[in-house]
Amino acid sequence: MPDNPISSTKEDLPQDTTSGGGIVRPLREEEYGLLKDFLYDAIFVPEGADPPSRDVVDDPALSIYYEGFGTQRSDRALCAEIGGRIVGVVWCRATAGFGQVAGGIPELAMSVKALFRKRGIGKRLLRAMLEALKKEDFARVSLSVQKANFAYAMYLKAGFRVFRETEKEYIMVCDL
Ligand SMILES: CC(C)(COP(=O)(O)OP(=O)(O)OC[C@H]1O[C@@H](n2cnc3c(N)ncnc32)[C@H](O)[C@@H]1OP(=O)(O)O)[C@@H](O)C(=O)NCCC(=O)NCCS
Repeated sequence: MPDNPISSTKEDLPQDTTSGGGIVRPLREEEYGLLKDFLYDAIFVPEGADPPSRDVVDDPALSIYYEGFGTQRSDRALCAEIGGRIVGVVWCRATAGFGQVAGGIPELAMSVKALFRKRGIGKRLLRAMLEALKKEDFARVSLSVQKANFAYAMYLKAGFRVFRETEKEYIMVCDL
């Protein structure tokens, strides 16, 4: 593991994975402020339910996913950019989050802007992040996903397995 998480984010992650009309690249430090917004988009809203208010992401249980991003060893973020606009982000951080399986194991979160979903961007981002983490010798990555979220199937296909479950959520891990 490199000592400086910020420089490793820039140097070691894939730079220009071009296909399908956009690029996947590391999220730049000056773009880390977008994570709060993408975290809001990552909140699962069951069909027919009202979305939560935007300030829900200020709650300490959620702000740990973005506050001070770039300062921890495991902080990594990739984005999908189309026409100069960031339309999707996947990021990892070892936190005491909903998907934590053990200290030091990064937890993954992701979202794609609604207008850009169902075009394969989520799969590309996920694949790119798993490859990047593997290259950097991370052993595992975890996440939590609502059982009702179709993304559960996407994660299974990408190599995640269920580590534990609660009434409404799966906590999954992927051995890299
Ligand atoms: C989950 C999310 C990141 C997926 O990104 P995406 O770009 O829409 O996904 P993709 O187009 O790459 O599709 C991935 C797979 O899911 C399927 N899929 C996409 N949208 C779907 C939907 N609404 N219902 C069912 N399956 C769907 C695709 O067909 C594809 O399956 P395949 O491998 O069999 O082809 C995106 O939908 C999103 O931001 N959702 C809201 C936030 C969220 O749920 N984040 C995850 C929290 S754990």
